[in-house]
Amino acid sequence: MIDVSHLSKIYKMDTVETVALNNISFSIDKGEFVAIMGPSGSGKSTLMHILGALDTPTSGKYILDGEDVSKLSKDQLAEIRNKKIGFVFQSFNLLPRTTALKNVALPMIYAGISKKERFEKAKILLGQVGLEDRMEHTSSQLSGGQMQRVAIARALAMNPSIILADEPTGNVSSAQSDEIMGVFQNLQKQGHTVIMITHESSVAAYAQRIIHIKDGAIEKDEKSKRGKKE
Ligand SMILES: Nc1ncnc2c1ncn2[C@@H]1O[C@H](COP(=O)(O)OP(=O)(O)O)[C@@H](O)[C@H]1O
Ligand SMILES: [Mg+2]
Repeated sequence: MIDVSHLSKIYKMDTVETVALNNISFSIDKGEFVAIMGPSGSGKSTLMHILGALDTPTSGKYILDGEDVSKLSKDQLAEIRNKKIGFVFQSFNLLPRTTALKNVALPMIYAGISKKERFEKAKILLGQVGLEDRMEHTSSQLSGGQMQRVAIARALAMNPSIILADEPTGNVSSAQSDEIMGVFQNLQKQGHTVIMITHESSVAAYAQRIIHIKDGAIEKDEKSKRGKKE
């Protein structure tokens, strides 16, 4: 499903060059739950931007669902992004003063889905993340963990092939963080592919596989304890 080979990203600013990713290769199968872990500055966000079709590599290839994404134009990247990727951010990015239901239904407006269908689908998705009793709550009436679960439901609205989460537990308590990881594990059981960036090993442990990156290179690619038991 994802095949990355010899991927490098070099940022050039005036005369300074930063090698953010240095010749990275890996594959991720459909239905895997993978954590990408590394210290600050190791290239995690850069990798996430490339996997999420927000940016292109300086060199190397990125194949997503059989399509070479590494050389697409900005417009083509936007199309891939809308069709195939569900983003979850550290800061939730929900609309304030807007109900959970409306937040989840929103991406479906742009796809021309009828109001009735949008709300039916949004209700199902909120049920999947355990928020059937919070649909009419606005963002400010929800806890951080609940807001993140709304954001996950929203990310699922357009049936993406991958869920890409950048530090999804960065702004929530550890109990809420467990709930969010429970949601990701359930999504995986239903066949979704989840890629999560984190710098916390306790969070990464919920994934089946952990790719460790350091200085823009893969240091270790291993099954987590959970992955080993399965
Ligand atoms: N837009 C950019 N322009 C120049 N340098 C960048 C840019 N984004 C990131 N970098 C540099 O690339 C390296 C990797 O950054 P990043 O991918 O954000 O790491 P992480 O998310 O692991 O903290 C860092 O040295 C950072 O300073
Ligand atoms: Mg980062």
